Amino acid sequence: MKDLFGKALLDYYQGNYSVDIVTSTNISEEDTLPLPYLFRDFSEMPTLEQNALNLCKGHILDVGCGAGNHALWLQSKGFNVKAIDNSKGAIEVTKKRGVINAEFKSLLNETETFDTILLLMNGTGIFQYLDSAPRYLKHLKSLLNKEGQILIDSSDIKYMYEDDDGGYWLDINANYYGELDYYISYKGEKDIALKWLYLDFDTLNELCMHAGLRCEKVAVGAHYDYLAKLTHLIN
Ligand SMILES: C[S@@+](CC[C@H](N)C(=O)[O-])C[C@H]1O[C@@H](n2cnc3c(N)ncnc32)[C@H](O)[C@@H]1O
Repeated sequence: MKDLFGKALLDYYQGNYSVDIVTSTNISEEDTLPLPYLFRDFSEMPTLEQNALNLCKGHILDVGCGAGNHALWLQSKGFNVKAIDNSKGAIEVTKKRGVINAEFKSLLNETETFDTILLLMNGTGIFQYLDSAPRYLKHLKSLLNKEGQILIDSSDIKYMYEDDDGGYWLDINANYYGELDYYISYKGEKDIALKWLYLDFDTLNELCMHAGLRCEKVAVGAHYDYLAKLTHLIN
């Protein structure tokens, strides 16, 4: 991976903003991801994210922190927050923006325990594949204190498969419809495809039950998106 995401964040942070990130998937055309959106403050965040931040308590882990927006807000409110990301550029920006505890680290390498674990901006994307979701959920559970909570958002992207007649062109022999090949290009450079998983709520709920986690839908967004709260099934 070329870490184009991190490179774009660094450019923006250093005042070198000229173009946005261009994204595409195996089922959709090119789209732009505006860099200013990756530097949003609380008032610019979608309601789902504001809800998540307002639910935070205790020692917090912000997984896939990007430019550190959520961690920064939480830190400003006096919370003890740790931010991790597997993009070097993202962590450099997060640190430069003032997040005290930020580490270049993949979720599966985290070992501390927390009262709140945040995964925002399609947090289930980090699981990559439906088949690897159980491993990630098991690991997240191992990082969760007894009364702790995981706050994670995602979307049911079935609508992306809808045709003009209102039917769906889902191939039942293919992989789960929320598993996408996600491409990023920036300033003429293209990264290799990233696997990115969108999970509908019922599927997440089922995966959680198998992992020994209670899954509760705590908010719904404007476009098939939702925020879920996961807690230990047995405390
Ligand atoms: C869609 S961005 C969201 C960034 C940020 N949470 C926000 O809302 O602006 C996803 C982030 O997750 C990071 N990421 C992806 N897989 C990861 C993993 N296994 N461990 C840690 N971070 C990961 C990416 O580098 C990226 O910064």
